[in-house]
Amino acid sequence: SSDTATSFPTAMRGVMPADLLERDARCPFDPAPGLLSRRDGDPVQPLPLANGARAWLVTGFEEARAVLADGRFSNDRIRHPDATQMSAEQAANGYCPVDVPERRDGMFIFMDPPEHTRLRSLLTGQFTVRRMRALESRLREIAVEHIEAMRAAGTSADLVPSYALPLPSLMICELLGVDYADRETFQRNTAVALSSTSSDEDRARAGGELYAFIAGLVAAKRAAPSDDLLSGLVHDADPPLTDAQLIDMTLVLLGAGHETTANNLALGMFALLERPEQLAALRADPSLIDGTVEELLRYCSIIQLGVSRVATEDVAIGGVTIAAGETVVIGTPETNRDPRHWADPDHLDVRRERAPHLAFGHGIHQCLGQQLARAEMRVGVEELVTRMPDLRLAVPADEVPLRNDMLIFGVHALPVTWG
Ligand code: HEM
Repeated sequence: SSDTATSFPTAMRGVMPADLLERDARCPFDPAPGLLSRRDGDPVQPLPLANGARAWLVTGFEEARAVLADGRFSNDRIRHPDATQMSAEQAANGYCPVDVPERRDGMFIFMDPPEHTRLRSLLTGQFTVRRMRALESRLREIAVEHIEAMRAAGTSADLVPSYALPLPSLMICELLGVDYADRETFQRNTAVALSSTSSDEDRARAGGELYAFIAGLVAAKRAAPSDDLLSGLVHDADPPLTDAQLIDMTLVLLGAGHETTANNLALGMFALLERPEQLAALRADPSLIDGTVEELLRYCSIIQLGVSRVATEDVAIGGVTIAAGETVVIGTPETNRDPRHWADPDHLDVRRERAPHLAFGHGIHQCLGQQLARAEMRVGVEELVTRMPDLRLAVPADEVPLRNDMLIFGVHALPVTWG
């Protein structure tokens, strides 16, 4: 199961119509043209996939919430194969992408209740207030250290590798209790395993090393627990979790908690640098930071079409009937810009009144790491904005390389300068 960590960002590539994933370089913060153009249509629309399968696209905010709150939709990819996860050939042969038996053990993101409920609640039990507070103060130290390192190295940098990626990466190390000495190898393998630009060979090798590393980490926590979340999972669960479950759960945390925040932070900073009046408003009133984070989550909606479900029986929703076995894809960027729900939805407004959005999903699978993600975004933006007041793009905006080849949208690099 060494390919587990790599399967999150790559699964749907080639199956989704490109115009729903590829954003317009003139405004990379807006949903892809194909999504925007569907906004005037029905809130649930037919979605023809490149593999010939038919699915449904949900563009309405209320309809998306209804799907995600409805137990008749499954996230279990073994029992209910999802048309978006397959190539044309695989679909024709009835292939299920999650068919490796070990993958079942702790991959709770792809489970339904009651299995999902048990594993998820064991994890939420480890996200204690005390642990989150400790993480937050470490987070601030890490942010400041990285800003100082950038300043010490010159007057320009690529914000992705020097700031946006190490923040969530080091936070996951803290969470899992990865030793400082092992961090470099761990981070390098994670970056290669999760990157779109790695070759298949490199990705497989890094994925294998990562799997072996996590297996070793679990063994170490079994032998000698410390004060981290992984030790808590190893020792508190009753009945105890198996090694395979623990490794899978760690891989889920890693896969879900890495490129997500990194990309939202980098793309969010890009948006703020491109909207100087919004950045100025935030600088003038630092209490706007929490609202800014929510607005960047909504406005950027980096998880483009990554949330999908399969109907286990016929379900009527948004004026259509979704038949048992059909796949429903949530158009998150679109639902977060639904004009029936949001006033002036295409405008980034750091003063916008706070309201629930769908950037973290909804219902029983709603992002487990959302408090951590919010803290990472808040501290990440706050420290940059206050410590680097003259931060600006180092290249014209249309030269920033976009992650149009990835399900999790963002930028491959964000060249910035100061001083
Ligand atoms: C689930 C978004 C950061 C851990 C999800 C889902 C979304 C999401 C949309 C729901 C998927 C679905 O329903 O199919 C984001 C965004 C993030 C972020 C936009 C950053 C800005 C994090 C972090 C962690 C994390 C930092 C952990 C350290 C998880 C886990 C799940 C999840 C474990 C699966 C929950 C379940 O299946 O019950 N996330 N996430 N996420 N997220 Fe996040």
